[in-house]
Amino acid sequence: MTGSQRIPRHVAIIMDGNGRWARSRGLPRVKGHEQGVERIRPIALACAERGVEYLTLYAFSTENWRRPRREVRALLQLLSRAMDRKGEAYLEDNIRLRLVGSVERLDPALQQKVNEAIELNQHNTGLTLCLAFDYGSRAEIVRAARTIASDLDGSEVTEETIEQRLYTAGMPDVDLLIRCGGEVRLSNYLMWQSAYAELYFTEVLWPDLDEAELDRAFGEFSRRNRRYGALDGGGDA
Ligand code: FPP
Repeated sequence: MTGSQRIPRHVAIIMDGNGRWARSRGLPRVKGHEQGVERIRPIALACAERGVEYLTLYAFSTENWRRPRREVRALLQLLSRAMDRKGEAYLEDNIRLRLVGSVERLDPALQQKVNEAIELNQHNTGLTLCLAFDYGSRAEIVRAARTIASDLDGSEVTEETIEQRLYTAGMPDVDLLIRCGGEVRLSNYLMWQSAYAELYFTEVLWPDLDEAELDRAFGEFSRRNRRYGALDGGGDA
């Protein structure tokens, strides 16, 4: 990485490939998720070191409830353990935790654990690590539309009034969206917030994502010419 690079302010990652990581080693899928959880802190620290302000990780989508019961249970257990251990660790790292999505479908003890970890770290001043949990863009926009329907007249609805009602209220738009694991789609992730994001798709599986690949993504971001739909030097829109 060179000193003159532009650094994305908000990075979003689709952490795909845990299952394949495990399968290629003859391990059960849940081992891939465990390894996936282990990557969260080093990647968050690497982003913080490079000057990223917000990192939003797709931990569990609204569609993930449809996975086999056993796998869902394992993912919830991992969330629970991550909140136990990482609550303290993030305090040390000066990382602020935020939830993007919902904990309403979790049992009350786990909801409390998540809320306590967020509370514990709320005065940290470094990177904001947003965990997208039970998150889906369409559900998020429906939720925003419902509150607008009860709060406002149609004529008062603007991009800002919608933004203020998204889970990400107050956060900057996504600058760089990275998808691990070789698929080339957005999978209902931050679709409003990524309207002008640069997209980076990599074959690297999430449990293998390292600083070298992160730097390749940042390098690619830095080389791209972001025009937000405007013309520049007579080029394409
Ligand atoms: C996809 O891998 C990944 C997920 C289902 C979400 C990412 C989850 C983690 C990193 C662990 C959970 C973290 C928390 C904090 C709950 P996949 O199973 O779809 O991989 P595959 O495409 O190779 O099958």
